[in-house]
Amino acid sequence: MTKQHFRSLDLLATAVVILDQGLRIVHCNHAAEALLGMSNRWLEGESLSDVVEIAEQVETMLSEAAQQHFEFKRQQLNWRLPARGPVELDATVSVHPEADGLLLSLELREIAQQRRADREEHQADLTQANKELMRNLAHEIKNPLGGVRGAAQLLDRELPSDELREYTQVIIKEADRLQSLVDQMLAPHRKARVLESVNIHEVCERVRSLMLAEFPQGLAIQRDYDISLPDVRGDREQLIQVVLNVVRNAAQALAGQGEIVLRTRVARQVTIAKQRHKLALDLHVIDNGPGIPEDIRERVFYPLVSGHPQGHGLGLTLAQSYVHQHGGLIDVESRPGHTDFLIRLPIDLSWGAE
Ligand SMILES: Nc1ncnc2c1ncn2[C@@H]1O[C@H](COP(=O)(O)OP(=O)(O)OP(=O)(O)O)[C@@H](O)[C@H]1O
Ligand SMILES: [Mg+2]
Repeated sequence: MTKQHFRSLDLLATAVVILDQGLRIVHCNHAAEALLGMSNRWLEGESLSDVVEIAEQVETMLSEAAQQHFEFKRQQLNWRLPARGPVELDATVSVHPEADGLLLSLELREIAQQRRADREEHQADLTQANKELMRNLAHEIKNPLGGVRGAAQLLDRELPSDELREYTQVIIKEADRLQSLVDQMLAPHRKARVLESVNIHEVCERVRSLMLAEFPQGLAIQRDYDISLPDVRGDREQLIQVVLNVVRNAAQALAGQGEIVLRTRVARQVTIAKQRHKLALDLHVIDNGPGIPEDIRERVFYPLVSGHPQGHGLGLTLAQSYVHQHGGLIDVESRPGHTDFLIRLPIDLSWGAE
């Protein structure tokens, strides 16, 4: 393997560490640097076990490989990584005989990431069908609803007594409620997008102040920003709506008592909807509330799925539509005491340079 080979490893989304027979690091690709949280310059030439605390299974696999007990081995394991904490990994070790000894490659894939990619794809197909149904349904309801409201209003004027007018008022009020629901169902498809350079932290700050005004007591919203993040290209209003819907859900789940963390991080070499991006930003909205009710956990992004009697179940559907329109993904991990919504948006660097 040559330097050229090593450079092409940088294009992979899978983390790859090349080691010599003495288990010293020869090269780490970009994805491995990101996973281990250390740079290649630092790692090259070092013994792997000196720079990171190696999971026992990895150590065994590597030393068996160095003694040529096998050519290829794959295992799922847990590894506590300095930059990330415990991570579930799919690890593959292979042996490559070279002219001057053996080289070993250690490939690491995050299982959660793989699952997330599968789930995203599955979800995208399903939600597409769902959304079409919803849109058609909304259109079908909209016109007769206008008629019902109009007729109720006419009737309201003709009625002789206030007592009877109470009934027409109920019809008008309920028709208005339905109208606003239908409008929300149609919203993502109606508004034109305005693309501009958007600073995610401005979006977060805006949402933060709106939420603190809506929940003036007992709600804490912590910021954990990576301020070196470049702007994204996007529609500011849509992105505010996305973050607002997610944060508002968290605040509602906390019933105004608890903590929300807004965390931004850079993500490198990511694949979103089969498209590779060198750079993306991750916004985590984390709360310490009760978690998403188990019976709807798998379906929260579907339209009309809600855990509240008063909820429309459209907030996350809308958020997902907008995020998809930005070429990004939205996903969630939730258990009681910890709910983590991830909004990942690709960063188009050429946009910033224009
Ligand atoms: N952070 C969270 N913690 C616990 N449950 C959550 C959280 N976020 C979402 N949920 C659950 O997911 C459901 C769906 O959320 P979604 O925003 O789509 O609809 P909604 O909030 O019920 O109604 P609306 O359309 O008014 O937003 C919520 O009703 C709630 O039960
Ligand atoms: Mg909501």
